[in-house]
Amino acid sequence: MNVNILGIPMDLGAGRRGVDMGPSALRNAHLARTLRGLGHTVCDLGDVPVALPETMDKHASAGLVFLEPILEACRAAAQRVAALPDDVFPITLGGDHSVSMGTVTGNALRGGTGERTGLIWVDAHTDYNTPETSPSGNIHGMPVAHLTGLGDASLAGLGGGWTLRPEDIVMIGIRSVDVRERELLREIGVKAYTMKDVDQLGITRITEETLERLSDAARLHVSFDADALDPSVAPGVGTPVPGGLTYREGHLLMELLSESGRVTSLDIVEVNPVLDTRNQTAEVMVGMAASLLGQRIL
Ligand code: ARG
Ligand code: MN
Ligand code: MN
Ligand code: MN
Repeated sequence: MNVNILGIPMDLGAGRRGVDMGPSALRNAHLARTLRGLGHTVCDLGDVPVALPETMDKHASAGLVFLEPILEACRAAAQRVAALPDDVFPITLGGDHSVSMGTVTGNALRGGTGERTGLIWVDAHTDYNTPETSPSGNIHGMPVAHLTGLGDASLAGLGGGWTLRPEDIVMIGIRSVDVRERELLREIGVKAYTMKDVDQLGITRITEETLERLSDAARLHVSFDADALDPSVAPGVGTPVPGGLTYREGHLLMELLSESGRVTSLDIVEVNPVLDTRNQTAEVMVGMAASLLGQRIL
């Protein structure tokens, strides 16, 4: 496969500093070399430009912290990704999870807006706040709501008319949802597998159901927030929540998705080297990418 890596070194959407160094940490953990070892052709496209928080006052407009620079970076990411040739498998590196407003939009626009894109959101959080429901104002808690057209009009308009259908979203690993965010999710009807579901049903059944549910989607995008994994496995994240996916559950999910042959793009987000132990989290996430891209035990 032709794999292209694109970094979005942005921490403006997060409450804590440091995820802007995520792309660097993942490159240092030999992302490209690992994927080449699996037989892929890998090209690193470098980084999308992102404004530095040091050059701005921390300000919020209408409940959104750093709205304008985040919008700019997402626009740039969406344009870069949308322009990639059809045979390319993009791996986009965050950055905080607000980058996915750009990456998911860019990937969805690659096939023309007629094709449906399925989104598999692997995360401890549903990231379905709007500026009205958010307790923090941090945009990394809001990307999925904006992808479906809710919230701030400029962020929701990144797709230029394209929005993600709520029925094309499946979330896995969920264990932290804000009060008003929960009300919104119930109202919209987004499918989410909580950690209780993971315990009860197991990853195999959840993956089968997910692929079945998204069977009409021409493209499948996996957005993998490192905090979906248990903090003992992935300690380098800004919003850790206990009781997450084990190392093997994460790999099994990626292995089964890989076997399906249907995934067309991947985000790796929320890796925070400042909070990490010897780059463990980046290394674990490179392993997850390898499993999604065909690495097998035997
Ligand atoms: N729900 C919280 C908020 O909206 C935390 C979101 C964490 N999101 C993330 N991508 N780590 O502020
Ligand atoms: Mn997230
Ligand atoms: Mn999260
Ligand atoms: Mn593996």
